[in-house]
Amino acid sequence: MTEIYRSTCDLGDGMTVTPPFAMVIFGASGDLTVRKLMPALFHLYLEKRLPEIFQIVGFARRPKTDEQFRAEMKEGVKKFSRSEQWDEKAWAEFESHVFYSVGEFPDASAYERLQQRLLMLPGSREVEGHYLFYLATAPEYFGVVAHHLHGAGLFSESKRQKLIVEKPFGIDGETAEKLTQELQAAVAESLLYRIDHYLGKETVQNLLYFRFANSIYEPLWNRRYIDHVQITVAESEGVGSRGGYFDKSGSLRDMFQNHMMQLLALTAMEPPASLDAESLRNEKVKVLCSIPDFQKEQLSERVVRGQYDGYRNEERVDPKSMTETYVAVKLFVDNWRWSEVPFYLRTGKFLKHRTSEIVVVFRRPPSVLFQAKCGLHLMRNTLRIRLQPDEGIHLCFNAKTPGRGRIESVDMDFKYALEFGSYSPEAYERLLYDALVGDSTLFTRADEVKEAWRIVDSIQNQWQDQPMHTYARGSWGPEAADQLMTCEGNRWLTEEASTRSTAP
Ligand code: BG6
Repeated sequence: MTEIYRSTCDLGDGMTVTPPFAMVIFGASGDLTVRKLMPALFHLYLEKRLPEIFQIVGFARRPKTDEQFRAEMKEGVKKFSRSEQWDEKAWAEFESHVFYSVGEFPDASAYERLQQRLLMLPGSREVEGHYLFYLATAPEYFGVVAHHLHGAGLFSESKRQKLIVEKPFGIDGETAEKLTQELQAAVAESLLYRIDHYLGKETVQNLLYFRFANSIYEPLWNRRYIDHVQITVAESEGVGSRGGYFDKSGSLRDMFQNHMMQLLALTAMEPPASLDAESLRNEKVKVLCSIPDFQKEQLSERVVRGQYDGYRNEERVDPKSMTETYVAVKLFVDNWRWSEVPFYLRTGKFLKHRTSEIVVVFRRPPSVLFQAKCGLHLMRNTLRIRLQPDEGIHLCFNAKTPGRGRIESVDMDFKYALEFGSYSPEAYERLLYDALVGDSTLFTRADEVKEAWRIVDSIQNQWQDQPMHTYARGSWGPEAADQLMTCEGNRWLTEEASTRSTAP
Protein backbone atom coordinates (compact mmCIF):
# COMPACT_ATOMS: atom_id res chain seq x y z
CA MET A 1 0.00 0.00 0.00
CA THR A 2 1.30 3.46 -0.85
CA GLU A 3 2.03 5.61 2.19
CA ILE A 4 0.33 9.01 2.09
CA TYR A 5 2.73 11.79 3.02
CA ARG A 6 0.56 14.76 2.20
CA SER A 7 -3.18 14.73 2.39
CA THR A 8 -6.30 16.73 2.97
CA CYS A 9 -9.12 15.56 5.11
CA ASP A 10 -12.48 17.30 4.94
CA LEU A 11 -14.00 17.64 8.39
CA GLY A 12 -17.18 18.85 6.79
CA ASP A 13 -17.61 21.70 9.24
CA GLY A 14 -18.74 25.03 7.98
CA MET A 15 -19.71 24.32 4.38
CA THR A 16 -23.44 23.88 4.69
CA VAL A 17 -26.17 26.45 4.54
CA THR A 18 -27.67 27.47 7.88
CA PRO A 19 -31.34 26.82 8.63
CA PRO A 20 -33.75 29.75 8.11
CA PHE A 21 -33.45 32.27 10.95
CA ALA A 22 -34.25 35.73 12.25
CA MET A 23 -31.47 37.56 14.05
CA VAL A 24 -32.28 40.56 16.21
CA ILE A 25 -29.33 42.79 17.05
CA PHE A 26 -29.93 44.85 20.18
CA GLY A 27 -27.86 48.03 20.19
CA ALA A 28 -27.78 48.04 16.41
CA SER A 29 -26.66 51.67 16.14
CA GLY A 30 -23.37 50.82 17.84
CA ASP A 31 -19.96 50.32 16.30
CA LEU A 32 -19.98 46.56 16.62
CA THR A 33 -22.96 46.13 14.28
CA VAL A 34 -21.57 48.22 11.48
CA ARG A 35 -17.91 47.24 11.83
CA LYS A 36 -18.15 43.55 12.54
CA LEU A 37 -21.60 41.98 12.54
CA MET A 38 -23.07 43.30 9.30
CA PRO A 39 -19.86 42.77 7.26
CA ALA A 40 -19.64 39.23 8.62
CA LEU A 41 -23.27 38.46 7.77
CA PHE A 42 -22.86 39.94 4.30
CA HIS A 43 -19.80 37.74 3.72
CA LEU A 44 -21.64 34.66 4.81
CA TYR A 45 -24.31 35.67 2.32
CA LEU A 46 -21.76 36.15 -0.48
CA GLU A 47 -20.33 32.74 0.29
CA LYS A 48 -23.81 31.23 0.04
CA ARG A 49 -23.82 30.03 3.62
CA LEU A 50 -27.05 31.84 4.47
CA PRO A 51 -30.36 30.26 3.50
CA GLU A 52 -32.92 31.77 1.16
CA ILE A 53 -35.05 32.76 4.10
CA PHE A 54 -33.49 34.89 6.80
CA GLN A 55 -34.12 38.23 8.45
CA ILE A 56 -31.83 40.56 10.30
CA VAL A 57 -33.54 43.09 12.54
CA GLY A 58 -31.65 46.00 14.06
CA PHE A 59 -33.18 47.06 17.38
CA ALA A 60 -32.17 50.38 18.96
CA ARG A 61 -33.47 53.54 20.59
CA ARG A 62 -33.28 56.03 17.74
CA PRO A 63 -36.31 56.13 15.44
CA LYS A 64 -35.34 55.05 11.91
CA THR A 65 -37.00 53.50 8.91
CA ASP A 66 -35.84 50.20 7.41
CA GLU A 67 -34.50 52.19 4.45
CA GLN A 68 -32.44 54.50 6.65
CA PHE A 69 -30.99 51.59 8.57
CA ARG A 70 -30.12 49.76 5.35
CA ALA A 71 -28.40 52.86 3.95
CA GLU A 72 -26.29 53.22 7.11
CA MET A 73 -25.35 49.57 7.04
CA LYS A 74 -24.44 49.78 3.37
CA GLU A 75 -22.01 52.63 4.02
CA GLY A 76 -20.49 50.75 6.94
CA VAL A 77 -20.15 47.43 5.16
CA LYS A 78 -18.51 49.16 2.19
CA LYS A 79 -15.99 50.68 4.56
CA PHE A 80 -15.29 47.77 6.88
CA SER A 81 -15.80 44.69 4.75
CA ARG A 82 -12.72 42.63 3.91
CA SER A 83 -13.87 42.26 0.27
CA GLU A 84 -11.79 44.08 -2.25
CA GLN A 85 -14.66 44.60 -4.65
CA TRP A 86 -18.09 45.91 -3.88
CA ASP A 87 -20.94 43.80 -5.23
CA GLU A 88 -23.88 46.18 -5.61
CA LYS A 89 -26.27 43.56 -6.86
CA ALA A 90 -25.52 41.18 -4.02
CA TRP A 91 -25.96 43.98 -1.48
CA ALA A 92 -29.34 44.92 -2.96
CA GLU A 93 -30.49 41.31 -2.49
CA PHE A 94 -28.97 41.06 0.97
CA GLU A 95 -30.48 44.30 2.25
CA SER A 96 -33.97 43.15 1.40
CA HIS A 97 -33.50 40.84 4.43
CA VAL A 98 -32.56 43.73 6.75
CA PHE A 99 -35.12 45.56 8.95
CA TYR A 100 -35.21 47.98 11.81
CA SER A 101 -37.26 48.06 14.98
CA VAL A 102 -37.25 50.99 17.41
CA GLY A 103 -37.50 50.56 21.17
CA GLU A 104 -36.12 51.41 24.59
CA PHE A 105 -34.43 48.41 26.23
CA PRO A 106 -36.35 48.68 29.54
CA ASP A 107 -39.75 49.08 27.81
CA ALA A 108 -41.66 45.79 27.92
CA SER A 109 -44.10 46.87 25.19
CA ALA A 110 -41.20 47.27 22.73
CA TYR A 111 -40.63 43.51 22.93
CA GLU A 112 -44.25 42.78 22.23
CA ARG A 113 -44.03 44.97 19.14
CA LEU A 114 -40.86 43.16 18.19
CA GLN A 115 -42.59 39.84 18.51
CA GLN A 116 -45.43 41.02 16.26
CA ARG A 117 -42.93 42.34 13.77
CA LEU A 118 -41.02 39.05 13.64
CA LEU A 119 -44.24 37.20 12.91
CA MET A 120 -45.12 39.60 10.08
CA LEU A 121 -41.76 39.46 8.31
CA PRO A 122 -41.56 37.52 5.05
CA GLY A 123 -40.77 33.84 5.59
CA SER A 124 -41.59 33.84 9.29
CA ARG A 125 -43.42 30.54 8.90
CA GLU A 126 -40.24 28.83 7.64
CA VAL A 127 -38.17 30.51 10.34
CA GLU A 128 -40.31 28.63 12.86
CA GLY A 129 -39.09 30.58 15.86
CA HIS A 130 -35.38 30.07 15.09
CA TYR A 131 -34.43 33.42 16.61
CA LEU A 132 -30.97 34.64 17.53
CA PHE A 133 -30.90 37.58 19.89
CA TYR A 134 -27.58 39.37 19.81
CA LEU A 135 -26.79 41.63 22.76
CA ALA A 136 -24.53 44.29 21.28
CA THR A 137 -25.71 46.76 23.91
CA ALA A 138 -23.90 48.36 26.84
CA PRO A 139 -23.46 45.59 29.46
CA GLU A 140 -25.92 47.12 31.94
CA TYR A 141 -28.72 46.17 29.52
CA PHE A 142 -27.82 42.49 29.09
CA GLY A 143 -29.99 41.32 31.96
CA VAL A 144 -32.80 43.77 31.13
CA VAL A 145 -33.09 42.68 27.51
CA ALA A 146 -32.95 38.98 28.41
CA HIS A 147 -35.64 39.50 31.04
CA HIS A 148 -38.00 41.26 28.62
CA LEU A 149 -37.41 38.76 25.82
CA HIS A 150 -38.43 36.08 28.26
CA GLY A 151 -41.41 38.13 29.45
CA ALA A 152 -42.66 38.64 25.90
CA GLY A 153 -42.52 34.89 25.33
CA LEU A 154 -39.79 35.17 22.74
CA PHE A 155 -37.95 32.21 24.29
CA SER A 156 -40.36 29.38 23.65
CA GLU A 157 -40.44 25.80 24.82
CA SER A 158 -39.09 24.67 21.46
CA LYS A 159 -35.61 25.88 22.54
CA ARG A 160 -34.85 27.08 19.05
CA GLN A 161 -33.84 30.53 20.28
CA LYS A 162 -30.32 31.55 21.17
CA LEU A 163 -28.93 34.46 23.08
CA ILE A 164 -25.54 35.79 21.98
CA VAL A 165 -23.67 38.00 24.41
CA GLU A 166 -20.66 40.20 23.79
CA LYS A 167 -18.07 40.84 26.44
CA PRO A 168 -17.60 42.23 29.06
CA PHE A 169 -19.21 39.50 31.16
CA GLY A 170 -19.18 41.49 34.35
CA ILE A 171 -16.35 43.50 35.85
CA ASP A 172 -15.40 40.89 38.45
CA GLY A 173 -16.43 37.45 39.62
CA GLU A 174 -19.42 38.71 41.56
CA THR A 175 -20.95 40.79 38.77
CA ALA A 176 -20.24 38.01 36.24
CA GLU A 177 -22.07 35.53 38.45
CA LYS A 178 -25.02 37.89 38.81
CA LEU A 179 -25.13 38.38 35.06
CA THR A 180 -25.02 34.64 34.47
CA GLN A 181 -27.95 34.18 36.85
CA GLU A 182 -29.94 36.90 35.09
CA LEU A 183 -29.30 35.39 31.69
CA GLN A 184 -29.95 31.86 32.83
CA ALA A 185 -33.27 32.99 34.32
CA ALA A 186 -34.33 33.77 30.75
CA VAL A 187 -32.63 31.05 28.76
CA ALA A 188 -30.84 27.74 29.40
CA GLU A 189 -27.02 27.79 29.53
CA SER A 190 -26.89 25.55 26.45
CA LEU A 191 -28.59 28.32 24.43
CA LEU A 192 -26.26 31.05 25.67
CA TYR A 193 -23.44 31.95 23.33
CA ARG A 194 -20.79 34.12 25.00
CA ILE A 195 -18.50 35.56 22.38
CA ASP A 196 -14.76 35.78 22.84
CA HIS A 197 -13.77 36.87 19.35
CA TYR A 198 -10.27 35.41 19.75
CA LEU A 199 -11.80 31.95 19.54
CA GLY A 200 -13.13 32.80 16.09
CA LYS A 201 -9.68 33.56 14.73
CA GLU A 202 -8.44 30.91 12.31
CA THR A 203 -5.04 30.66 13.91
CA VAL A 204 -6.44 30.29 17.39
CA GLN A 205 -8.55 27.40 16.16
CA ASN A 206 -5.47 25.99 14.50
CA LEU A 207 -3.93 25.58 17.94
CA LEU A 208 -6.23 22.63 18.46
CA TYR A 209 -5.45 21.13 15.09
CA PHE A 210 -1.74 21.66 15.59
CA ARG A 211 -1.77 19.98 18.96
CA PHE A 212 -4.18 17.15 18.33
CA ALA A 213 -3.99 16.38 14.60
CA ASN A 214 -0.24 15.67 14.94
CA SER A 215 1.54 13.05 16.93
CA ILE A 216 5.03 14.53 17.15
CA TYR A 217 4.40 17.43 19.52
CA GLU A 218 2.09 15.90 22.08
CA PRO A 219 4.71 13.65 23.73
CA LEU A 220 6.88 16.75 24.25
CA TRP A 221 4.06 18.96 25.49
CA ASN A 222 4.76 18.79 29.19
CA ARG A 223 7.06 19.73 32.07
CA ARG A 224 9.64 17.15 31.08
CA TYR A 225 10.52 18.88 27.81
CA ILE A 226 9.15 22.41 28.08
CA ASP A 227 11.03 25.02 30.07
CA HIS A 228 8.42 27.76 29.89
CA VAL A 229 5.72 29.27 27.70
CA GLN A 230 5.32 32.91 26.66
CA ILE A 231 2.02 34.35 25.46
CA THR A 232 2.02 37.87 24.05
CA VAL A 233 -0.88 39.89 22.72
CA ALA A 234 0.64 43.24 21.79
CA GLU A 235 -1.25 46.10 20.19
CA SER A 236 0.44 48.99 18.42
CA GLU A 237 -2.47 51.41 18.94
CA GLY A 238 -3.55 53.23 22.09
CA VAL A 239 -7.10 53.41 23.43
CA GLY A 240 -8.18 55.85 20.70
CA SER A 241 -11.81 56.87 21.08
CA ARG A 242 -12.57 54.04 23.55
CA GLY A 243 -11.04 55.84 26.54
CA GLY A 244 -14.38 56.09 28.35
CA TYR A 245 -14.86 52.31 28.32
CA PHE A 246 -11.23 51.32 28.71
CA ASP A 247 -10.50 53.57 31.68
CA LYS A 248 -13.09 51.66 33.71
CA SER A 249 -11.70 48.37 32.58
CA GLY A 250 -7.92 48.18 32.01
CA SER A 251 -5.87 45.49 30.31
CA LEU A 252 -6.38 42.90 33.03
CA ARG A 253 -10.16 42.90 32.57
CA ASP A 254 -10.29 43.88 28.91
CA MET A 255 -7.78 41.39 27.49
CA PHE A 256 -6.38 39.12 30.17
CA GLN A 257 -9.58 37.77 31.72
CA ASN A 258 -10.87 36.61 28.36
CA HIS A 259 -8.56 36.45 25.32
CA MET A 260 -5.34 35.67 27.19
CA MET A 261 -6.99 33.08 29.42
CA GLN A 262 -8.47 31.37 26.38
CA LEU A 263 -5.11 31.22 24.63
CA LEU A 264 -3.55 29.81 27.76
CA ALA A 265 -6.31 27.21 28.14
CA LEU A 266 -5.97 26.04 24.53
CA THR A 267 -2.20 25.78 24.89
CA ALA A 268 -2.26 23.87 28.17
CA MET A 269 -5.39 21.70 27.95
CA GLU A 270 -5.46 17.91 27.82
CA PRO A 271 -6.73 16.21 24.65
CA PRO A 272 -10.53 16.21 24.89
CA ALA A 273 -12.48 12.97 24.68
CA SER A 274 -14.13 14.19 21.49
CA LEU A 275 -14.43 17.36 19.43
CA ASP A 276 -17.87 18.22 20.73
CA ALA A 277 -18.43 21.50 22.53
CA GLU A 278 -18.80 20.09 26.03
CA SER A 279 -15.72 17.85 25.94
CA LEU A 280 -13.56 20.66 24.69
CA ARG A 281 -14.84 23.20 27.17
CA ASN A 282 -14.49 20.68 30.00
CA GLU A 283 -10.78 20.44 29.29
CA LYS A 284 -10.33 24.20 29.04
CA VAL A 285 -12.04 24.79 32.35
CA LYS A 286 -9.83 22.18 34.03
CA VAL A 287 -6.76 24.23 33.06
CA LEU A 288 -8.26 27.35 34.62
CA CYS A 289 -9.21 25.42 37.76
CA SER A 290 -5.55 24.36 38.09
CA ILE A 291 -4.31 27.93 38.34
CA PRO A 292 -4.16 28.89 42.01
CA ASP A 293 -5.27 32.29 43.29
CA PHE A 294 -2.48 34.84 43.54
CA GLN A 295 -1.39 35.55 47.10
CA LYS A 296 -0.71 39.18 47.97
CA GLU A 297 2.97 38.54 48.75
CA GLN A 298 3.45 36.94 45.30
CA LEU A 299 2.27 39.94 43.32
CA SER A 300 5.53 41.92 43.33
CA GLU A 301 7.36 38.99 41.74
CA ARG A 302 4.66 37.79 39.44
CA VAL A 303 2.64 40.73 38.21
CA VAL A 304 3.67 43.97 36.49
CA ARG A 305 1.27 46.71 35.50
CA GLY A 306 2.04 49.70 33.35
CA GLN A 307 0.50 52.71 31.69
CA TYR A 308 1.74 54.28 28.47
CA ASP A 309 3.09 57.81 28.48
CA GLY A 310 0.31 60.30 27.93
CA TYR A 311 -2.54 57.86 28.62
CA ARG A 312 -4.03 60.27 31.15
CA ASN A 313 -4.42 62.90 28.44
CA GLU A 314 -6.47 60.62 26.22
CA GLU A 315 -10.06 61.53 25.44
CA ARG A 316 -12.49 60.59 28.25
CA VAL A 317 -9.73 59.25 30.50
CA ASP A 318 -9.45 60.41 34.11
CA PRO A 319 -6.40 62.73 34.36
CA LYS A 320 -5.42 60.87 37.54
CA SER A 321 -6.24 57.47 36.15
CA MET A 322 -4.62 54.42 37.73
CA THR A 323 -5.88 52.12 34.97
CA GLU A 324 -3.28 49.83 33.42
CA THR A 325 -2.75 49.71 29.67
CA TYR A 326 -0.21 46.92 30.06
CA VAL A 327 -0.07 43.85 32.22
CA ALA A 328 2.47 41.03 32.47
CA VAL A 329 1.85 38.00 34.65
CA LYS A 330 3.84 34.92 35.54
CA LEU A 331 1.63 32.04 36.55
CA PHE A 332 1.66 28.30 37.04
CA VAL A 333 -0.80 25.64 35.99
CA ASP A 334 -0.66 23.30 38.93
CA ASN A 335 -1.37 19.93 37.40
CA TRP A 336 0.64 16.85 36.47
CA ARG A 337 1.47 18.04 32.99
CA TRP A 338 2.61 21.55 33.86
CA SER A 339 3.73 21.60 37.46
CA GLU A 340 6.59 24.15 37.93
CA VAL A 341 6.55 25.29 34.29
CA PRO A 342 6.15 29.08 34.25
CA PHE A 343 3.68 30.64 31.83
CA TYR A 344 4.50 34.27 31.13
CA LEU A 345 1.63 36.31 29.71
CA ARG A 346 1.68 39.93 28.66
CA THR A 347 -0.62 42.26 26.83
CA GLY A 348 -0.56 45.98 26.27
CA LYS A 349 -1.51 48.94 24.13
CA PHE A 350 0.87 51.20 22.23
CA LEU A 351 3.57 48.55 22.11
CA LYS A 352 6.20 48.30 19.43
CA HIS A 353 4.35 46.02 17.02
CA ARG A 354 0.95 44.50 16.73
CA THR A 355 1.60 40.85 17.34
CA SER A 356 -0.09 37.95 19.06
CA GLU A 357 1.93 34.83 19.58
CA ILE A 358 2.63 31.85 21.75
CA VAL A 359 6.26 30.84 22.17
CA VAL A 360 7.00 27.44 23.64
CA VAL A 361 10.59 27.28 24.89
CA PHE A 362 12.00 23.77 25.29
CA ARG A 363 14.54 22.74 27.90
CA ARG A 364 18.25 22.90 27.22
CA PRO A 365 19.99 19.73 26.13
CA PRO A 366 22.06 17.98 28.85
CA SER A 367 25.20 19.84 29.80
CA VAL A 368 27.61 17.72 27.77
CA LEU A 369 28.80 17.92 24.15
CA PHE A 370 27.69 21.17 22.49
CA GLN A 371 25.88 22.53 25.49
CA ALA A 372 29.03 22.10 27.63
CA LYS A 373 31.03 24.11 25.08
CA CYS A 374 28.57 26.82 24.17
CA GLY A 375 26.67 27.28 27.43
CA LEU A 376 23.99 29.94 27.11
CA HIS A 377 25.05 30.65 23.52
CA LEU A 378 23.42 27.43 22.49
CA MET A 379 19.85 28.45 21.82
CA ARG A 380 17.04 26.42 23.27
CA ASN A 381 14.58 25.00 20.75
CA THR A 382 11.56 27.21 20.44
CA LEU A 383 8.24 26.79 18.78
CA ARG A 384 6.64 30.08 17.84
CA ILE A 385 2.95 30.01 17.03
CA ARG A 386 2.15 33.31 15.40
CA LEU A 387 -1.54 34.14 15.67
CA GLN A 388 -1.51 37.55 14.00
CA PRO A 389 -0.28 39.12 11.78
CA ASP A 390 1.89 36.92 9.45
CA GLU A 391 0.09 33.88 10.80
CA GLY A 392 2.31 30.84 10.94
CA ILE A 393 4.32 28.35 12.97
CA HIS A 394 8.10 28.42 13.28
CA LEU A 395 10.30 25.80 14.84
CA CYS A 396 13.77 26.98 15.74
CA PHE A 397 16.58 24.43 16.14
CA ASN A 398 20.37 24.34 15.98
CA ALA A 399 22.37 23.27 12.92
CA LYS A 400 26.01 23.11 11.89
CA THR A 401 27.04 25.84 9.49
CA PRO A 402 28.99 24.61 6.48
CA GLY A 403 32.77 24.49 6.85
CA ARG A 404 34.06 25.66 10.25
CA GLY A 405 32.55 24.18 13.36
CA ARG A 406 29.86 26.68 14.19
CA ILE A 407 26.37 26.15 15.34
CA GLU A 408 23.61 28.41 14.17
CA SER A 409 19.98 28.33 15.02
CA VAL A 410 17.71 28.03 12.02
CA ASP A 411 13.96 28.16 11.44
CA MET A 412 11.55 25.71 9.93
CA ASP A 413 8.69 27.87 8.78
CA PHE A 414 5.06 27.35 8.00
CA LYS A 415 3.28 30.47 6.81
CA TYR A 416 -0.45 30.46 6.35
CA ALA A 417 -0.40 32.95 3.50
CA LEU A 418 2.23 31.02 1.52
CA GLU A 419 0.59 27.67 2.03
CA PHE A 420 -3.08 28.55 1.74
CA GLY A 421 -3.14 32.04 0.20
CA SER A 422 -4.14 35.11 2.11
CA TYR A 423 -7.82 34.21 2.56
CA SER A 424 -8.66 34.50 6.20
CA PRO A 425 -12.25 34.92 7.29
CA GLU A 426 -13.03 37.41 10.02
CA ALA A 427 -13.58 35.90 13.45
CA TYR A 428 -17.22 37.05 13.49
CA GLU A 429 -18.04 35.15 10.31
CA ARG A 430 -17.09 31.91 11.95
CA LEU A 431 -18.75 32.74 15.25
CA LEU A 432 -22.03 33.91 13.75
CA TYR A 433 -22.14 30.90 11.49
CA ASP A 434 -21.53 28.54 14.41
CA ALA A 435 -24.23 30.21 16.48
CA LEU A 436 -26.63 29.88 13.53
CA VAL A 437 -26.00 26.15 13.21
CA GLY A 438 -26.02 25.67 17.00
CA ASP A 439 -22.37 24.77 17.53
CA SER A 440 -21.19 26.31 20.80
CA THR A 441 -17.63 24.92 20.76
CA LEU A 442 -16.06 28.32 20.22
CA PHE A 443 -18.13 30.13 22.85
CA THR A 444 -17.24 30.40 26.51
CA ARG A 445 -19.25 28.57 29.12
CA ALA A 446 -20.33 30.01 32.48
CA ASP A 447 -17.78 27.97 34.45
CA GLU A 448 -14.90 29.15 32.24
CA VAL A 449 -15.90 32.75 32.80
CA LYS A 450 -16.18 32.14 36.53
CA GLU A 451 -12.73 30.55 36.84
CA ALA A 452 -11.07 33.24 34.73
CA TRP A 453 -12.58 35.89 37.00
CA ARG A 454 -11.41 34.05 40.10
CA ILE A 455 -7.82 34.30 38.87
CA VAL A 456 -8.16 37.92 37.77
CA ASP A 457 -9.95 38.95 40.98
CA SER A 458 -7.09 37.58 43.06
CA ILE A 459 -4.82 40.04 41.24
CA GLN A 460 -7.23 42.93 40.86
CA ASN A 461 -8.35 42.94 44.49
CA GLN A 462 -4.85 43.00 45.90
CA TRP A 463 -2.63 45.00 43.57
CA GLN A 464 -3.41 48.54 44.76
CA ASP A 465 0.00 48.75 46.48
CA GLN A 466 1.89 47.58 43.40
CA PRO A 467 3.71 50.29 41.42
CA MET A 468 2.16 51.55 38.18
CA HIS A 469 5.10 51.70 35.77
CA THR A 470 4.98 54.08 32.86
CA TYR A 471 6.36 53.04 29.50
CA ALA A 472 7.17 54.84 26.31
CA ARG A 473 4.76 54.51 23.40
CA GLY A 474 6.25 52.18 20.84
CA SER A 475 8.36 50.28 23.39
CA TRP A 476 7.83 46.72 24.60
CA GLY A 477 6.34 47.93 27.89
CA PRO A 478 7.87 48.58 31.31
CA GLU A 479 11.33 47.27 32.09
CA ALA A 480 9.95 45.66 35.21
CA ALA A 481 8.25 43.14 32.93
CA ASP A 482 11.65 42.02 31.66
CA GLN A 483 12.72 41.39 35.24
CA LEU A 484 9.86 38.92 35.64
CA MET A 485 11.88 36.81 33.26
CA THR A 486 15.51 37.72 33.75
CA CYS A 487 15.46 36.58 37.37
CA GLU A 488 15.06 33.08 35.96
CA GLY A 489 17.53 33.53 33.12
CA ASN A 490 14.74 33.99 30.56
CA ARG A 491 13.76 36.88 28.33
CA TRP A 492 10.79 37.85 26.24
CA LEU A 493 11.37 36.43 22.79
CA THR A 494 10.09 39.34 20.79
CA GLU A 495 10.93 39.76 17.15
CA GLU A 496 14.10 41.76 17.79
CA ALA A 497 15.34 39.49 20.53
CA SER A 498 14.90 36.76 17.98
CA THR A 499 14.98 33.12 18.89
CA ARG A 500 17.93 32.74 16.54
CA SER A 501 21.56 32.88 17.56
CA THR A 502 25.03 31.78 16.55
CA ALA A 503 27.33 29.89 18.85
CA PRO A 504 31.07 29.57 18.33
C1 BG6 B 1 -11.09 43.61 22.37
C2 BG6 B 1 -10.63 44.62 23.37
O1 BG6 B 1 -11.75 42.54 23.00
O2 BG6 B 1 -9.96 43.08 21.66
C3 BG6 B 1 -9.84 45.73 22.70
O3 BG6 B 1 -11.75 45.16 24.05
C4 BG6 B 1 -8.73 45.16 21.87
O4 BG6 B 1 -9.32 46.63 23.67
C5 BG6 B 1 -9.24 44.07 20.93
O5 BG6 B 1 -8.15 46.23 21.11
C6 BG6 B 1 -8.10 43.36 20.22
O6 BG6 B 1 -8.62 42.49 19.26
P1 BG6 B 1 -7.80 42.11 17.94
O7 BG6 B 1 -8.69 41.15 17.23
O8 BG6 B 1 -7.57 43.39 17.19
O9 BG6 B 1 -6.51 41.51 18.40
